[in-house]
Amino acid sequence: MSMRISTTSSLDYSLLRHLADGEIHSGEQLAEPLGLTRAGIWKRLKDLAGRFDLQIEALPARGYRLRHSLELLEPERLLRAMSPATLASLSELHLLLQVDSTNTWLGTQGYAADTSGVVCLAEHQTAGRGRLGRRWISPFGANVYLSILWHYDLPPVALSGLSLALGLAVIQSLESLGVPGVGLKWPNDLLWQGRKIAGLLLEVKGEFAGPSRIIAGLGVNTRIDAAHGEAIEQAWVDLEHIPGGAGIARNQLVGCLIEALVTEFQRFAREGFAPLVEVWRSHDAYLGQRVQLSRGEHLVEGIEQGVNESGALLLECEGERRSFVGGELSLRKCP
Ligand code: BTN
Repeated sequence: MSMRISTTSSLDYSLLRHLADGEIHSGEQLAEPLGLTRAGIWKRLKDLAGRFDLQIEALPARGYRLRHSLELLEPERLLRAMSPATLASLSELHLLLQVDSTNTWLGTQGYAADTSGVVCLAEHQTAGRGRLGRRWISPFGANVYLSILWHYDLPPVALSGLSLALGLAVIQSLESLGVPGVGLKWPNDLLWQGRKIAGLLLEVKGEFAGPSRIIAGLGVNTRIDAAHGEAIEQAWVDLEHIPGGAGIARNQLVGCLIEALVTEFQRFAREGFAPLVEVWRSHDAYLGQRVQLSRGEHLVEGIEQGVNESGALLLECEGERRSFVGGELSLRKCP
């Protein structure tokens, strides 16, 4: 199968490519290759800064620069981080400059029922979505906003542990890039020292007896500035501030994450979640701790005991072991 790759070739993109290095670029330097006047560039940059929520400085008599340099995503560099087997199983790769949500985008493209292996990446999400209806703060060009559409012949019920398996795949990918110590909070939050570094949003549709369509969205905080950080409603951290996390090339990171997720999609089809129960436990950030599980008004308290072979959470509640499945559950350490 040969992969279809689509990228943005707009004027905005060309300007951003020039500015990405964080150096000063004169109005002339920017204007000439793009066929604009110097006044036109100024107007365009102001507009760009507004639309993408970017900090572009105008330095009198010198030019313009981005307050923070960026590594924009580039298809060739992404593909270089993937194995031949992964490349062969991808059908499309879309690199968008701006989108409401990469998950929403994949869900609204009208793909045929058996389409699989479609990757959507964006530099900026204007309406990034988290679990439980939360927002996912998605500033331009810094973090990872990645969604993959995958087709399974299996019924949705057989995919119950998939989101946990994908969380584990992300952890293993980070470890292979030299970032140890990231743990899991059921079902699929990634935490470093109790602060969230990444999360997965899985959307599953399917017939009762199969097939099923998955849209798996992954957000990883790689660099969040203070202003955007204030808008995040839970404790967070970014890769730049944890050991081993600074200095990983963004394209390599994203390429390795795609590799890990696709490999896991394929392994899961053959073996399911059961072989991962123990390894999931070994990364469980709440194992053995007293926790609260909330669903709407209802709260359950117990000692966290990992997960079972379907990925359900196990709690010991007053001497009895109970299991809880996904959906509207959230987990909190007891005070
Ligand atoms: C969570 O932990 O609440 C899940 C966060 C998932 C965020 C990613 S970013 C890419 C994809 N597009 C979205 O709108 N959400 C997911």
